[in-house]
Amino acid sequence: MTNQGIPQMMDIDYKPKLPKNKSIGIGIIGAGAIVQACHLPAYRMAGFNVIGIYDVNRERALALSEEFGIRHAFHSLEDLLKNPEIEVVDIAIPAKYQPDMVERVAAAGKHLLCQKPLGESYEDAKRIADTVTAAGVKGAVNQQMRWSPGIKASQLIVQNGWLGEVTQASIQVNVLTEWEQWPWITKIDRLEVMYHSIHYLDSIRSVLGKAPEYIYADGAKFPEQSSRGETRTMIHMKFLGETRGLIHDNHNHIAGQDDWYATFRFEGTEGIIKGTNGALYNYPEGREDTIHYLSKKIDPLQWHSPELEGRWFPDAFMGTMGELLLSIEEGREPENSVLDNLDTIRMVFASYRSMEENRPVWLNEFR
Ligand SMILES: NC(=O)c1ccc[n+]([C@@H]2O[C@H](COP(=O)([O-])OP(=O)(O)OC[C@H]3O[C@@H](n4cnc5c(N)ncnc54)[C@H](O)[C@@H]3O)[C@@H](O)[C@H]2O)c1
Repeated sequence: MTNQGIPQMMDIDYKPKLPKNKSIGIGIIGAGAIVQACHLPAYRMAGFNVIGIYDVNRERALALSEEFGIRHAFHSLEDLLKNPEIEVVDIAIPAKYQPDMVERVAAAGKHLLCQKPLGESYEDAKRIADTVTAAGVKGAVNQQMRWSPGIKASQLIVQNGWLGEVTQASIQVNVLTEWEQWPWITKIDRLEVMYHSIHYLDSIRSVLGKAPEYIYADGAKFPEQSSRGETRTMIHMKFLGETRGLIHDNHNHIAGQDDWYATFRFEGTEGIIKGTNGALYNYPEGREDTIHYLSKKIDPLQWHSPELEGRWFPDAFMGTMGELLLSIEEGREPENSVLDNLDTIRMVFASYRSMEENRPVWLNEFR
């Protein structure tokens, strides 16, 4: 379908790309909530080959191996790492254990998918990137919002040039998040950016295809909130030239869901994209993302509102693992490599330094 030679939305292939060879063996470390709710349902949808799972809590590994028909619930990490059928290891444990785990997995010569945040400090994340590089294995990060339908479609529209020069990118969210359902998260000092807006930082970076020069951020709490860390953030991003970005995120909405919103908007010299992130509507069930776009390059100038299929959770988890498997198949680095993710991590820690020192923080302060 074309209009004056310009491909229309139905030609935009926004769904996660899968490898031709789906038999590459996957081992999973960590059988927690996110593996149960998203990794395994997505891998089942994609037809990926999960060989086995290991968790220090054996009951959890056994429960998920039964629920998803996985052959092995390994007794030890060593058993998983020495299994010759496993080529790729999906690490889904708390971030503080991730650098040591990556060293074990890389030393076994396996490719790996890390969880976000890649590290609880920039040094931890850098250590992971150095480990993967030295071992010569492929390392990717499960920063999967890039593959949510609305964000991936936006990235492709921008890459098509339909926005011209992109001048601004914004993600605005106003919802109620009950952090108490993850008790550990209520006890940490750095919450919202590290565990939630990290997805928005990564998404904006992936749509624009570049990282900002500097960030100016503010983080705040809500009176009498039970969590220690920030639950309201405003992050201003200055990119080279005239491009600007904004994340405005509040997790303390006091009324019902009918007033919640989770929107994204990208504007340029030639066009506009606006949409909603369906995962945060009708919560926790979610709904499909929406997108509307117009471009002076598509005649007549009018809004296009194609329907999108799939959701951030769990469909986009096919995207992160799918890209790692594709990169192995095609002998190249994954788009979501640990090296690439260092820019997202720089954005996270620039945000926190900015909050603490009340100043714009350049990303190149983190090397
Ligand atoms: N990509 C995303 O969107 C997303 C969403 C939620 C959580 N996460 C991340 O996923 C990770 C896990 O989150 P969760 O909600 O599943 O937590 P969880 O507490 O439910 O599960 C963590 C599991 O890891 C196991 N574990 C801990 N250390 C281990 C080790 N050394 N070896 C083997 N198993 C070990 C625990 O026993 C537990 O079963 C966290 O890093 C979190 O930030 C990512």
